[in-house]
Amino acid sequence: MSKPIYILNGPNLNLLGLRQPEIYGRETLDDVAAACAALAKALGLAIRFHQSNHEGQLVDWVHEARGQGAGIIINPAAYTHTSVAILDALQAFDGPVLEVHISNVHKREVFRHHSYVSLRADGVIAGFGTEGYLLALRRMKSLITA
Ligand code: DQA
Repeated sequence: MSKPIYILNGPNLNLLGLRQPEIYGRETLDDVAAACAALAKALGLAIRFHQSNHEGQLVDWVHEARGQGAGIIINPAAYTHTSVAILDALQAFDGPVLEVHISNVHKREVFRHHSYVSLRADGVIAGFGTEGYLLALRRMKSLITA
């Protein structure tokens, strides 16, 4: 099989389904991981699905994806709006990068309207709920087979 797609999730997403369900829904991150695994299998893609509350760990996974990964789908969560370190790591990755947000960040507080990661992302999905991960996987398949 070809190189895997890294699906990276930032802080507090381990609480998906429990925290602010009116914004993020009732699905858990395990549900999202399972749905991604099923779709990836159907698309003939391998995935590495990770979550961390620590910025440096996310940077390390982006570094690991250099050489080992075909593409990166990332929901950096709150680090979206603060992390030059994650942006710099992504800038050092050669493959496609897709940014996912479960909520529509543009409909929320002004501080969520700016994304450092968007300076590198080849595409951004926001406000499609957890379905956004599946849309991103389909787009990733097109990008890496183009
Ligand atoms: C989020 C949006 C971010 O602003 C927030 O900090 C998150 C989740 C989303 O998926 O909608 O934790 O990335």
